[in-house]
This record gives sequence, C-alpha cells and structure tokens, in this order.
Amino acid sequence: MRLEQVGDEAALEEWRTQVLGRSGELTQVLRGIGGMEPDERRAVGQAANVAKQELEAALDARSEQLSRAALEREAADGLDVTLPGRPRRPGRLHPVTRTLREILDIFGRMGFAAIEGPEVEHDEYNFGRLRIPEHHPARDMWDTFWFDEEIDGATPLLLRTHTSPMQIRFIEQHDPPVRIVVPGRCYRYEATDATHEWMMQQVEVLAIDEGISVADLKGTLQEFARQMFGPERRVLLRNSYFPFVEPGVELAVDCFSCPGDDPRCPVCRGSGWLEIMGAGMVHPEIIAAAGFDPERYTGFAAGMGVERITMLKYGIEDIRNFYANDLRFLRQF
Ligand code: DAH
Repeated sequence: MRLEQVGDEAALEEWRTQVLGRSGELTQVLRGIGGMEPDERRAVGQAANVAKQELEAALDARSEQLSRAALEREAADGLDVTLPGRPRRPGRLHPVTRTLREILDIFGRMGFAAIEGPEVEHDEYNFGRLRIPEHHPARDMWDTFWFDEEIDGATPLLLRTHTSPMQIRFIEQHDPPVRIVVPGRCYRYEATDATHEWMMQQVEVLAIDEGISVADLKGTLQEFARQMFGPERRVLLRNSYFPFVEPGVELAVDCFSCPGDDPRCPVCRGSGWLEIMGAGMVHPEIIAAAGFDPERYTGFAAGMGVERITMLKYGIEDIRNFYANDLRFLRQF
C-alpha cells in the first residue's frame, strides 16, 4: 500500500505495521543483513537506515495531514474543536442571601423562630393596625405601590413597605411568649440612588412575654451586633419615632473600620457610629388590640434592612449593585 493512498488513522496504522512494524518489510531487510559479507552489510545497512528515517518522516507528515484534514472537515460542519473549553464555575450564594442566613442563624441560636408573611398586604396591616393612620405624616416614610383591585370590605392592597405587618398578623394568631424573626422582601416607591432601592429585604424581630424590658431589647440586639460585626462591638440606642413602638429607638454599632474619628472612613465617615436598625418597645395599644393585657405582657420589636447590613459589613457603596446582576460584582463574594 502506498502512503498517499492511506486515507485515515486506521489505514495509517496498518501501513506502519506493514512497513516499519516488527515483521514489516523494512525490518526484514534489516534482519537479513546479519548473514551478509561485511562490505555488503555496511552498504545495505546504511541504505536501510536512511530509508527508515525517510519512511518515518513521511509517516509523520501523512499523519499530520490527515488530522488537519479531519479538523477542517469538522470546522466546515460548524464545529471548532480547537476552541478552549468553557470552564464551569461553581455557583455561590448572593451576598444578601448570605447575610440573611447569618441573621436568621444568630437569632435562631437565641430562640427566635423564622416565619414569613405576604408581600402583597392590606393597608390595614401595613399601616392602620401599626398605628399609622391615613394622612399621618409618618406615612411619608413608606410610600409604596398600590393595587387597583378592590376586595369587598377589606382595605386596599399594596406591596408591603416593611416586615412589621407580620407583628400584627402573628400576635392575632399566637399567644405569648412570642419570639420570631420575619425575613422578607419589601417595596417602596423610591427614586433609586446609592442607598435606596424600590425593593429590599428586611428582617423583623419580635419578642413578647411577661416582664420584657428595654434591657432585653438592648442585650439581644447587642449580642446580634457582636455576632454580626465582631465581639468588640458596642451598641448605642438613640431616641427615634416609629408609631408602633414606645419608646422608639435607632440602634447603632460603633465603627469597625476606624477608631471612630476618621473623617475619611468609608464606613462611618467620621461619625463613629453606624445605624443598623430601628427598634423599640411594642406599643401597649398593639398588645391590647391583640387581646393581651399590656400591664402583664410587654415586648420589643426591631426591623433591619439586609442590604444595608451587607453594605456595612463588606464596604459596598451602592445598593444598586445587589440587583444589577453584574457577575463581576457578585463573584467577589
Ligand atoms: N418597619 C420600620 C421601617 O421599615 C423599621 C422598624 C422600626 C421596625 C422600629 C420595628 C421597629 O419593629 O420597632 O422603617
């Protein structure tokens, strides 16, 4: 068989065995030289060696030609097998999901059960029963998206602006002692900027029992802050107003990024304190409305933004990064 007639890898191997193999034609010649006269042996040996080198080179060249032709055929079919493979990257949790799980774990270890509530909520639960009446200026804090449909007898539907409505829903259905955390998406009618999104996630905290005091509020939230931001953290309660708590506070932790007085600090900007949530003692009217004696039962509530906590924790400057689906951002976590 001639090498030019060899058309594929299998035929090429056949040719190699036939010519250069252990009992191939050339090998026979080389074996034969043992019985020759010295002069003849040298001449034949040299010629055979030259022939062997040439044949091997021809074999390599043909093999190369064949595989190039095969690639060209595949490329003509639209398949380029010379392209590098696409690496598969392992999946990972979204940074907000990670923080959310951490928050629920920390409260879980302190005995709080996680429950969820509806994102489409009634005006009554989102506002009214939380002591935020219509036309009250406090409503300005929570502008939202409304549904057009009317449901017989019920207050209008909206996208909840916070997870606080679950405080009411839960104590309507359950007797104290209550210890719950409520994670979930909330919506606001906002012009978005670096610190505002029209959708964000919150975690509500609610504890109601006999004898709960501000000390329990502070101790629980301080423990949370330490587990979240580091064991050295101190917390500060500052007076604030939320209609469903009395007194209402804003809870801050001391800056974990600078000594607290660096005006260039990207985390606290020199203020030394980072506000991480609103909180307060559950308003006695809310406890009474659920059918419990506010002289006997007291409680604390808190609400935090999961994106905000994630931003503080990882030094992220723009909340819009979380939902822009830019993998260059998400892969950093
Ligand atoms: N719901 C409030 C908000 O979205 C946050 C909040 C403040 C929740 C005080 C609470 C609380 O439970 O006690 O702005």
